Amino acid sequence: MGLLTGGLPDFPWDTLVPFKDRARRHPDGLVDLSVGTPVDPTPALVREALAAAADAPGYPTTHGTAALREAVVDWFARRRGVPGLDPDAVLPTVGSKELVAWLPSLLGLGEGDVVVHPECAYPTYDVGARLAGATPLPADDVSVWERRDDVRLVWLNSPSNPTGEVLGVEDLRRAVAAARRIGAVVASDECYALLPWAEPWVTRGVPSVLDPAVTDGDVRGLLAVHSLSKQSNLAGYRAAFVAGDPALVRRLLEIRKHAGMIVPAPVQAAMATALADDEHVAQQRERYRRRRAALLRGLEAAGLEVDGSPAGLYLWARAAGAGQDCWATVGDLADQGILVAPGSFYGPAAARHVRVALTASDEDVVRAAARLEGA
Ligand SMILES: Cc1ncc(COP(=O)(O)O)c(C=O)c1O
Repeated sequence: MGLLTGGLPDFPWDTLVPFKDRARRHPDGLVDLSVGTPVDPTPALVREALAAAADAPGYPTTHGTAALREAVVDWFARRRGVPGLDPDAVLPTVGSKELVAWLPSLLGLGEGDVVVHPECAYPTYDVGARLAGATPLPADDVSVWERRDDVRLVWLNSPSNPTGEVLGVEDLRRAVAAARRIGAVVASDECYALLPWAEPWVTRGVPSVLDPAVTDGDVRGLLAVHSLSKQSNLAGYRAAFVAGDPALVRRLLEIRKHAGMIVPAPVQAAMATALADDEHVAQQRERYRRRRAALLRGLEAAGLEVDGSPAGLYLWARAAGAGQDCWATVGDLADQGILVAPGSFYGPAAARHVRVALTASDEDVVRAAARLEGA
């Protein structure tokens, strides 16, 4: 059987539908905090940039315009503590989910190759390994894989979806050093990097795998994956990029040219504009900060415990005490008209947690928090 039809897990969100129906029956209506899809407007300056580039009769460049790649390089220097990135080592992608799903295939991985990803993780790391016919290996601890000779790719995700945990410089160095010893590529998914909530990350910033403090100036074998979906409310544009090792990026580019994996020209123009503007990112972060504070208060008042969640777009919560299964917590919250995602979507290690997204309107967040606080 072809892998594309045979090797993939069921799409888990379908199992949440009965809980959505249950939550909808609440007299004051449903507040959906399950999927992390942005709800605030795309910033006007980005929409204007898209519209100004709407006349696009020719094919766009797969590598991205020089203007876009320069904007990415400037952004890495300004916002991510990564100076001097090579513009040739930047490549736009059609959102980052696409890259996560196809990177193992683009790197030529297949049967017998292992792709490491976090234990509690965004499911597409696993899907990408399976699409390539490779074997996914969930592991947080470097010691699980550092002596294996079949590991070809190591995914890191910092800040994490779903837990919000951040990898510090030392964590990143350890993973990079171990991967280099066994010849594996490290791909670091950093799409929530501009959403830190706790120290030291607010002051210091969330470190990138391309930070010189991690790489000692050597980016070979390293890729950083970024998305504009959350920081700029651009999920509908499909706007992301990968950057790092010039040789790896060149290989990805060659295949993506053949396969037509190209970001539309107006979206490339919109991305360059979004990356040059820090103001809208700060405004959006402030919205999420307020919503996070309200939901955190509500969840704690309702007797849930929120673990960690020092960054990112989610609160990682569980029923206090004896360890209630995540589906029971999903059910309890559905009875209050609030839909959240069960931790089990993110791996067996998360069976007691639920993921609460901050991506709801101010009004919905106020309604949810009031219900949780019993007001
Ligand atoms: C960790 C992580 N990586 C990648 C993505 C994909 O984002 P996009 O395809 O919108 O860039 C998401 C989306 O939720 C995510 O949580």
